[in-house]
Amino acid sequence: MPQQSKNTVVLKVSPDRPGPGAIRKATAVLRAGGIVAFPTETVYGLGADVFNPDAVVRIFQAKGRPPDNPLIVHIARIEQLNHIVKHIPPPAQKLTNTFWPGPLTLILERKSIVPDIVTAGLDTVAVRMPKHNVPMALINELSHGIVGPSANTSGRPSPTTAEHVYSDLNGRIEMILDAGPTKIGLESTVIDFTTTPPALLRSGGLTREQVEQVIGRLQTTKKEELLKRSPGTRHRHYAPRAKVILIEHGNVDQFQYLYKNYHQMKKKVGSIIHSKLLLGVKPSELCVVLPSQIEEYSRHLFASLRKLDSISADIILVETVPEIGLGVAVMDRLRRAAEEP
Ligand code: TXA
Ligand code: MG
Repeated sequence: MPQQSKNTVVLKVSPDRPGPGAIRKATAVLRAGGIVAFPTETVYGLGADVFNPDAVVRIFQAKGRPPDNPLIVHIARIEQLNHIVKHIPPPAQKLTNTFWPGPLTLILERKSIVPDIVTAGLDTVAVRMPKHNVPMALINELSHGIVGPSANTSGRPSPTTAEHVYSDLNGRIEMILDAGPTKIGLESTVIDFTTTPPALLRSGGLTREQVEQVIGRLQTTKKEELLKRSPGTRHRHYAPRAKVILIEHGNVDQFQYLYKNYHQMKKKVGSIIHSKLLLGVKPSELCVVLPSQIEEYSRHLFASLRKLDSISADIILVETVPEIGLGVAVMDRLRRAAEEP
C-alpha cells in the first residue's frame, strides 16, 4: 500500500463488543499492508501485520521512529507466542498465566520467522497480549500477531484517546478504531527473560510488586546496561513541546517561586498539580488538577500534557507523585518528559 496523504478514516467501535463490520474493514486494511490504530488497556497502539515487513516499515515512517527501536508484537492466543519465540522459561509462563491478557510485555528469544524489521535486528522479540476486546478481535480475525508501538509521533506523550492519535498521525495512517479513552493511561511493563533473574526494562501498568509476588526478585537494570538492552530508553520520550519542570510533591514554596518567576519572564505557565499546591493558584485552563489517587492520576497524565501543549503553554510545572506502586512508572515518564532535548 503506498504512502498515503488522504485523511485517516476514524471508525467508532464499542470497547466491549466491537461490531464485526468494523473489525472486518480494519483487518482488510491490515491485509493490504496498511496501518490501523487501535485502543488497548494501556494506550493506543499502531497496528500492522507482523509478517508484512513493508507494512512494518511504514509504521517507522509514520511515527518518525528511529530504526534501532524494536516493536512489541501483540497476540491473542498462546499458540501465537509459541509460533514466534524459541522457548518460554517457566517464570515467564507463570507471568503469562497470571497477567495475560494485561499490561505486561515479555522479551524472549525469537524464532527466525519474525522479520528483522520488527526486532530492529535483535535476537529477541517483545510480546504482549492486550486486555482489550478491540485488538483481540482484530488479531483473531487476521489470525496472527500485529505489531503495536504507541500510536504517537516518536518522542511525544503516548496517546490515550483516538483524538490524540488523529492529531499526531492524520494522513499518515489508513484507519483509527476509536473506542474512547484507555483505562490505564501508561504503557505496559517490559520484562527481559533472557537474563537470570529476569530484568525490569520499563516500569508500566503492572507494578514491580505484582510481578515479584509471582516470580520473586527482578533484576534492576543499571542505566548504561538499560541503554544497551532497552533501545527505547536511548531516545527522548513522553515530551510535550513545552518545557517540563518537576516540582517536589507538596512543595508549595518551590511551586510559587517558579510560577511567579516564569510569569514575570512573560512565559505562559501551565501546571499539573494534585495536592495542596492547588492553594497557590487560581483555577484556569492552564492549571490542570488531577486526583491524587495514583490510578486516576496515571490515566489522565499524558492527556494533561497534551492539553497544555494544545493551548501553547511554554512551561509546564508538574507536581511529582510518591514513587511507590504505579507511581514508579509515572515518575519514570515524568523524568523523561523533563529531560532536555
Ligand atoms: O502498552 C504498551 O506496551 C503499548 C501498547 C500499544 O501495547 N505499546 C508500546 O510500544 O508502548 P512502544 O513501541 O511505544 O514501546 C515498546 C518498548 C520500547 O521501549 C522498545 O524499545 C521496547 O519496548 N522493546 C521492544 N522490543 C524489544 C526487545 N526485543 N528488547 C528490548 N526492548 C524491546
Ligand atoms: Mg512509545
